[in-house]
Amino acid sequence: MYASRIDLSADIRETSVARLQARLFDALDLEAQLKQAHWNVKGRDFFQLHELFDAIHGEIEAFVDTLAERVTALGGVADGRVSATATGTGLPTYPLDARAGEAHLRAVAAALVAFGAAVRANIDDATRAGDADTADVFTELSRETDKQLWFVEAHLQAD
Ligand SMILES: [Fe+2]
Repeated sequence: MYASRIDLSADIRETSVARLQARLFDALDLEAQLKQAHWNVKGRDFFQLHELFDAIHGEIEAFVDTLAERVTALGGVADGRVSATATGTGLPTYPLDARAGEAHLRAVAAALVAFGAAVRANIDDATRAGDADTADVFTELSRETDKQLWFVEAHLQAD
């Protein structure tokens, strides 16, 4: 941790950095999972799902930057290394054998739900710790994750 003039104690900053870093690993994994879906989806709905997954990837890319830059704003070192992400992520592993649209939609939904649940829990954690701004970051990401999950689940809710 770097020294900082920010008016939050080193304890609060360290706690928030650990939570933000955990979600940064998840978000980096999530970002890669959305490309996995974007590249490999097959079937009648190929084109619109190919586009949808790329659009969600774009949203997650913004999450990654927001999380990493909150880490550095608090005096931490943002760890975006692929090797660290591989062990640090809490998301389920993306199925390599997913083929049709529905399999990809279910895999992406599972990843979004896992990310959304973790980030939602972090809202209260950060609030209780006395870091309202980090709680606000988590709130923004949580709300946007719910929206992206809606776009995915709408394809699975017709029946
Ligand atoms: Fe592409």
